[in-house]
Amino acid sequence: MQDILITDVSPRDGLQNQPVAVPLETKLALIARLVQAGLQRVEVTSFVSPKAVPQMADAGDLVPQVNQAHPALRASVLVPNMKGLERAHAAGAQEIAVVLSATETMNQKNINMGLAQAVAVSEETVREARERGLRTRAYVAVAFECPFEGLTDPAAVQHCVDRMTRAGSQEIVIADTIGAASPGAVDALLGALLRDVPAEQIGVHFHDTRGMAVANAWAALQLGIRRFDASVGGIGGCPFAPGAAGNLATEDLVLMAEASGYRSGVSLAALLDIVDFAEAALQRPLGGRSVPWQRKQRERRRQAAAA
Ligand code: COA
Ligand code: ZN
Repeated sequence: MQDILITDVSPRDGLQNQPVAVPLETKLALIARLVQAGLQRVEVTSFVSPKAVPQMADAGDLVPQVNQAHPALRASVLVPNMKGLERAHAAGAQEIAVVLSATETMNQKNINMGLAQAVAVSEETVREARERGLRTRAYVAVAFECPFEGLTDPAAVQHCVDRMTRAGSQEIVIADTIGAASPGAVDALLGALLRDVPAEQIGVHFHDTRGMAVANAWAALQLGIRRFDASVGGIGGCPFAPGAAGNLATEDLVLMAEASGYRSGVSLAALLDIVDFAEAALQRPLGGRSVPWQRKQRERRRQAAAA
């Protein structure tokens, strides 16, 4: 039983902008560890142009191996257009996420389309995915603030949400791509969206640029939202959105939720070991804001066990 549903996006959002090439085996090992830790949903890769994001060029090889190793996992993949859907479907993906930004310029920078075209393409992609029997998520990116246009018009977010729900997207993910939201802003935007869309259909995706990702997740939780994206070690960020720091760390989200009485179904101890694994793989210090404290607790447990 769990009270919140976490999608760990580290293999996609976390790895897409890493300066070092991450081998396929390392990605598979990361996913296996996440599953072992209790995560039932993982965004495993993206089917985007390998010229735009070289790190995700191995998506077609990764998906069949993930499906074989983890038949019970709800693995999702990000697709920006119909070509991405075709590739994802051919590889055996069962859940896709389209990525629509709420501003003109962010769509241009990210997927080389204006807002109107991005809405139309996302809509067509969601419809076609539904027809093929795939599960669907729709990101509404830069929902709070755009690195190019400043504060985002809530009406534009509302418009994107509306078009994506009408296209049949089963989950709408409100994304703070550059980590500019605050609990008050979350309250205002989601409060408005919840007048039209049930909380069960909404997920949230926060980045921790200003140290407010956990507080933002708490604000969403208080509004009845139960679907959260997070990334182990806090790795992540869109390469086309300047100023984006890492994602809300999965270990911070799980600690916050469990400490407040919400079951996550995920092992904190296992997550902490994955942070170590990811640090070794990416060769730099990682971890959410609670990790130094969590490591001290682990050290104490080890000493107590050895005594
Ligand atoms: N996967 C792989 N290749 C793709 C593709 C996809 N989903 N979509 C298009 N392409 C290829 C085309 O086949 C074409 O290849 P060619 O040059 O060998 O003929 C080339 O990319 C250009 O196609 P076009 O439709 O003109 O795309 P574009 O250059 O306008 O780029 C995107 C549009 C969406 C493909 C590109 O901007 C992209 O991949 N963005 C992803 C951004 C991202 O991942 N952001 C982080 C996550 S939010
Ligand atoms: Zn993100």
